[in-house]
Amino acid sequence: MEAKGKGTRVVIIGTGFVGSSYAYALLNQGVIDEMVLVDLNKEKAEGDAMDLNHGMPFGSPMRIWAGTYQDCSEADLVVITAGANQGPGETRLDLIEKNAKIFRTIVGSVMDNGFNGIFLVATNPVDILSYATWKFSGLPMEKVIGSGTILDTARFRFLLGQYFDVDSRNVHAYIMGEHGDTELPIWSHADIAGKPILTYVDEDNHVNMNELDTIFTNVRDAAYHIIDRKGATYYGIAMGLVRLTKAILRNENSVLTISTLLRGQYGLDDVYIGVPAIVNRQGIREVLELNLSEEEQKKLHHSASVLKEAMKPVHD
Ligand code: LAC
Repeated sequence: MEAKGKGTRVVIIGTGFVGSSYAYALLNQGVIDEMVLVDLNKEKAEGDAMDLNHGMPFGSPMRIWAGTYQDCSEADLVVITAGANQGPGETRLDLIEKNAKIFRTIVGSVMDNGFNGIFLVATNPVDILSYATWKFSGLPMEKVIGSGTILDTARFRFLLGQYFDVDSRNVHAYIMGEHGDTELPIWSHADIAGKPILTYVDEDNHVNMNELDTIFTNVRDAAYHIIDRKGATYYGIAMGLVRLTKAILRNENSVLTISTLLRGQYGLDDVYIGVPAIVNRQGIREVLELNLSEEEQKKLHHSASVLKEAMKPVHD
């Protein structure tokens, strides 16, 4: 185990496509001071650490090494990307059995080494595995955050930005629910620079609801289309994880659609699901309860019921 220098330490569990893309993005954006790569395949972690270190002269200085669970004792953030990922034609929920078993081991090993920071979960099905991490770790819920629909929301904003020919950073729109097939678009709170998108549908006959609905289905099914073409997705989620890392470590109090435990909000209880929440150095500060339309509320409850039904292997 390496003694911690001053500054922030992130331990990445899993250096597959997502973990190594996240590591590369963290180095390029100069976000943290120490990065520890942990993988069952030690050589892979060592190779990634060497490869990233050799790029250091082109970036900002930080410490990167292939480590062990012992390095978690002084970590500010442990980010779990390890596990089986979706194959062509597989849904994220198909991964529950195998990844729940893997998580029991991983979270146990992290906690056995005295971790007292924040978990960030990216492995799918991320809502269920975030719930599992909360259960297995015994940490307070605000310290266990899932990437949730952070990438879905980014995809939504990107495609809406393209459709309206506007910088996606000026599109405010959320995807909530399962990070998966039952996620839902929150049209009731979608706007461009404060002008509700649905008003464009009425005022401008170049904007029609069918095309907007198609944008949503392209968001929901994006991972399938990418996996069919390149076998996996990793750059988008890695960027989302860096955004979340910054919000936490820089105490930004940013609103992001992450997966967190609901305890009565939106009329839901005891489920991790994608909702807008304020994220800061303590983890989840609070869940934002939007005034959803009746249809949106119904779809969110359906999404939650699918997750609760699928949760069984975690409770066993
Ligand atoms: C995707 C993976 C991260 O949506 O679930 O690309």
